[in-house]
Amino acid sequence: MRVLGIETTCDETAAAVVRLQPGGAGEILSNEVMSQIAEHAAYGGVVPEIAARAHIEVLDRLVVRALDRAGVKLADLDGIAAAAGPGLIGGVIVGLTMAKALALASRKPFIAVNHLEAHALTARLTDELEFPYLLLLVSGGHTQLVAVKGVGDYLRLGSTVDDAVGEAFDKVAKMLGLPYPGGPQVEIAAAKGDPARFDFPRPMHGRAKPDFSLSGLKTAVRLEAQRILSPSQTDIADLCASFQAAIVDTIIDRSRAGLRLFRETVGQSNAMVVAGGVGANGAIRRALIRFCGESGLRLVLPPPQLCTDNGAMIAWAGIERLSLGLTDDMTFAAKPRWPL
Ligand code: KG4
Ligand code: ZN
Repeated sequence: MRVLGIETTCDETAAAVVRLQPGGAGEILSNEVMSQIAEHAAYGGVVPEIAARAHIEVLDRLVVRALDRAGVKLADLDGIAAAAGPGLIGGVIVGLTMAKALALASRKPFIAVNHLEAHALTARLTDELEFPYLLLLVSGGHTQLVAVKGVGDYLRLGSTVDDAVGEAFDKVAKMLGLPYPGGPQVEIAAAKGDPARFDFPRPMHGRAKPDFSLSGLKTAVRLEAQRILSPSQTDIADLCASFQAAIVDTIIDRSRAGLRLFRETVGQSNAMVVAGGVGANGAIRRALIRFCGESGLRLVLPPPQLCTDNGAMIAWAGIERLSLGLTDDMTFAAKPRWPL
């Protein structure tokens, strides 16, 4: 089984072909991604209208390239999948319309994929992994702990009540004058800083329900940065290191609460899986390795290029759904909001 996957929900335009091997494992035949970072950098964040136009400009070529690199023709595919939400509506419509048109023209099944479900299932593309497992999704738009019990069977254990973790990284970077996207820049600056210099809050710490709240932490960093007036490189590094330390503590504390709730409501978890762009952060990865070691939990950390938005995760979610006979028709509408 071979499926084309299209992703256009945010600021990456992506197309990929993934094959389901006879034993059940996935094989990525191509995975083309074009980031729009340059288009949005001047604004310090993603501009929805610019994103939608940029998707239109490159998506057709990207699909052709994904098919060519995979060495397949449209006629060889078993299905065509697109992320149908949640995300920026203009961009979602671009990818969804392209997938529907290709499916119509080639008379192949069409699969509307939930972008969050695709993040949740990616670990099964790279690793032999059975349900159920605990998912930590940490991206620019989403921060959630989810019990993944099966395809289409998710229990949201907790989520952020305000900012997503990646969003907090990006906002802190912006207030310190670091370029967009801020997450990787904060990590680089933090590596040279003192994580103990500023005692930033760890919101929600100790609460039983595994929710997150990050706006108070973000405000604390802003107030400290304003107090310093014109921060030196050392001040910026210390602010980044102290902020990142608070984030690491928060993620581990919330994951501990999430694991406890998982064990109470679902039972034993086969693994903890990390998804989303923030999963590329080295300090967070190291802390999660330690946490899972102590908790007797297998940790599945997909490679960074599969943590950030990509087409292979959409194609794989398409394969998982198609294998169960789950397809969609041409009336399926783009969904800006679509909780798991
Ligand atoms: O999953 P993703 O590519 O796109 C969304 O669906 O949001 O995640 C992007 C987010 C951005 O907020 C970015 O700053 C953050 O992930 N990010 C990082 C790192 N790399 C990317 N945050 C912290 N440390 C990193 N190394
Ligand atoms: Zn994403």
